Amino acid sequence: MDGFELLHRDGLARIGRFSTKHGVIDTPTIMPVVNPNLPTLAIREMVDLGARTFITNSYIIRRNQALREKAEKHGVHSLLGFDGPIMTDSGTFQSHVYSDIEFDNLEIVEFQRKIGSDIGTILDIFSEPEFSYDKAKEAVMETHRRIASLPPVEDMILAGPIQGSLHKDLRKLSAELMSSTQAGYLPIGGVVPLLENYRYDDLVDVIMASRTNADFSKPVHLFGGGHPMFMGMAVLMGVDVFDSASYVKYARDGRMLFPDGSRDLSRISSFPRWSPAYGKYTVQEVRNLPKEERFRVLAMHNLAAVFNELSEIREQIFQQRLWQYVEARARSHPYLFRAFLRLLDYSGTLERFEDLSKKSTFFYFDHYTEKSPYFCRMDRNIPRIMESLGGCTRVLSRENWHPGRPHGPEFIAEYEASSHRFLIPWNNRLIPVELDETYPFQQMITSGLESSEFTRYLESAVGAGSPPHHDAVREFRLEKVRRVADYQFGPGMGDGLFPDSTEVRVSRSTGRIRSVILHGSLLATLRSHDGFFTLGIEGARRLHSISPGMLNRVKVTRDSAEFNAKGYNVFFKFITACDPDIIAGNEVLVVGPDDDLVAVGKASVSGREMRDYRTGVAVKIHRGSSEGEAKGGDQD
Ligand code: GUN
Repeated sequence: MDGFELLHRDGLARIGRFSTKHGVIDTPTIMPVVNPNLPTLAIREMVDLGARTFITNSYIIRRNQALREKAEKHGVHSLLGFDGPIMTDSGTFQSHVYSDIEFDNLEIVEFQRKIGSDIGTILDIFSEPEFSYDKAKEAVMETHRRIASLPPVEDMILAGPIQGSLHKDLRKLSAELMSSTQAGYLPIGGVVPLLENYRYDDLVDVIMASRTNADFSKPVHLFGGGHPMFMGMAVLMGVDVFDSASYVKYARDGRMLFPDGSRDLSRISSFPRWSPAYGKYTVQEVRNLPKEERFRVLAMHNLAAVFNELSEIREQIFQQRLWQYVEARARSHPYLFRAFLRLLDYSGTLERFEDLSKKSTFFYFDHYTEKSPYFCRMDRNIPRIMESLGGCTRVLSRENWHPGRPHGPEFIAEYEASSHRFLIPWNNRLIPVELDETYPFQQMITSGLESSEFTRYLESAVGAGSPPHHDAVREFRLEKVRRVADYQFGPGMGDGLFPDSTEVRVSRSTGRIRSVILHGSLLATLRSHDGFFTLGIEGARRLHSISPGMLNRVKVTRDSAEFNAKGYNVFFKFITACDPDIIAGNEVLVVGPDDDLVAVGKASVSGREMRDYRTGVAVKIHRGSSEGEAKGGDQD
């Protein structure tokens, strides 16, 4: 398998795909659990609802003589009547519930391969949430020993579950160990008791520790996570695939799944329009159906709920607004909200995976928004920029700042005659005025909920303005492009990138900064949609000369470097090293083995992910060093 191919991203959440023997699996997705002994719904019915891949249990097949013979003779695809991708589980859960089972790991893996499974699972050790540290560690180590002792498995993607109970460092260890093996698929195991008891906050710890330490080229699966209520949050943390027997289990208890929780058939008044039951039956008719028929109607409804939610999640990723969706959804249940609060503890980690800017507007709701990843980014970067500038501070009143409009001549004259750091109030924060057009400062809709303390502080801090003063000591537009460069490439980079002789050009129609030129060569253009720079090759040369070590760099093989210099994109497999702090979507310098600059382009993933992916474009090049120079004169 070539590994996971990333198509769209929104932080850790991703839309992608990977290949199996029986076709491609598009993610995020869910594999309905098919019990070959008692199928509740026909495969065809589930495909009609959106299922494109299924999971079944090889242990159950193997223990039943008729099923086993059929599977061995004709394969698991024929047994289920489905010729798309099928995953099989190993019997770990059965061995956990009913204690020892009669087959060993090698036999179980070999059986799955023999029946033609596309993704087969090792016999891992289920680590209960209540396991002591030592017991959980033994489960992690034994699971790793089992996969490490297998001969290379051909013709089947091997699933190597991540265990470790609630111990975060063990989840990390397990994620790293399993990533280093031949496992091409990484399920997060031992979580069914957490899901069944709505312990979503503990799940946040488990998923974050597992996902962020696992190989990004391998799909991550959440074993048993099939309730639509938690799926958005799980995908936000990087889960690609779910499996679920919930659609049947809930149906058997007369329970119906909804995106915001579960409801009892005995207590509802109508079916929602999206339900397959809508228009076919009244609620009373379903209540009166014979038992098996009633299960089927409810199971269909439950699967529809799951697939509806998944298609919504996919759209939210595409629009890069999954955080906002999850933030809003968190209010549907106190346990989910508790999990959201736990998630906020990980904002610093999540921030490392967030793009430089998003396609969507940033929503500010309340103080919880201030704990979100983009706020973490500004709280990390802005103090460093301010520190590097030194000097005194002046807080501007709101009348001096009109979001979306360029600053007027009076403001510019006042700014240029001062050497103070000018700060503007922005949602309980003070930000340098030069960043006012940069994402997310301007690309935002706010509830306007500001703390009274902050407002009081502003009233006392805002100065009346400097006394009239005519000698300009600095140039506003030059300072502005420097501060954006500090925010984008690291504190101190702005002054080095844009020396005093830099010319800043503005658009004649909008009055906004468009490009930055030095001695007739284009250094960078400022994008109007997010207020960040796209670098020209001359700008890249300057950034290269002032960025120490690996800062802002992606290093590639010599062969790749020759292509990239001509303007061709960088593929993941040719990367030999990179700055681990690269922000997805940011400009990066592509260098050859001797740190020779060969191109400049846009990173498609973060520095942490860059080393893992093997398929696809890592840096979309906009200019190679051996292409013609772009001249400043043709801008605007
Ligand atoms: N099904 C539910 N949980 C698990 C798990 O931890 N391991 C395996 N193999 N299957 C599961």
